[in-house]
Amino acid sequence: MTIHIGAKAGDIAETVLMPGDPYRAKWAAETFLDNPKCVNEVRGMLGYTGTWNGHPVTIQGSGMGMPSLSIYANELIRDYGAKTLIRIGSCGAMQEAINLRDVIIAMTATSLSTPSRGIFKEINFAPCADYGLLKAAADAAAQKGTPTHVGGIYSSDVFYDERPDLNDQMIRHGILGVEMEAAELYNLAARYNVRALAVLTVSDHLITGKSLPSADRETSFADMVEIALSAAFD
Ligand code: HPA
Repeated sequence: MTIHIGAKAGDIAETVLMPGDPYRAKWAAETFLDNPKCVNEVRGMLGYTGTWNGHPVTIQGSGMGMPSLSIYANELIRDYGAKTLIRIGSCGAMQEAINLRDVIIAMTATSLSTPSRGIFKEINFAPCADYGLLKAAADAAAQKGTPTHVGGIYSSDVFYDERPDLNDQMIRHGILGVEMEAAELYNLAARYNVRALAVLTVSDHLITGKSLPSADRETSFADMVEIALSAAFD
């Protein structure tokens, strides 16, 4: 047990998928894992452990934003021994050529700040994905035929953004999409020498203003979960 996770030692697998939404964790565990067992209910941030193709997997909600993800990822890595952490979540597309429901695999995550800002001080650390996971995810997506884009994303601290000029610069510099968690996950993976990746589904589009109807979100989410699971055990 940790401060924020009620699971017993051994109840968390070395491979952890982390959706922002705890109910997505429940849905993904019940849809994709064999024998899913709820291992965390603290603060309603649901976590489940089961198996996928015989491999133990935990799916643990991270909450929204880097401070929340950082709490769960720190405890998963430092207290429960998680070795592979894959964020599965939604993002807003930042390039014309990207469509709703497409998958974005985050090679790097740019940010204005992260919870690690304090220790990096004057350094602008470049949070990046584990290459093996990234390649395996890109291969799995290609095999499924899911339209997929691999490149840099932007981990923002705000959903209701009062600085559209920052988004403009991200778009101008080829950033594929915006979300709110990946950069700190990558920072922590680097710090503790574990593997991390973010696989994202495009739920809205910053240039066209379009967004996915909620009925469509589940099926789009399914492709992303399968890509993440395939990558973890490639
Ligand atoms: N901004 C930040 N995070 C997001 C967005 C967005 O537009 N869409 C999905 N996650």
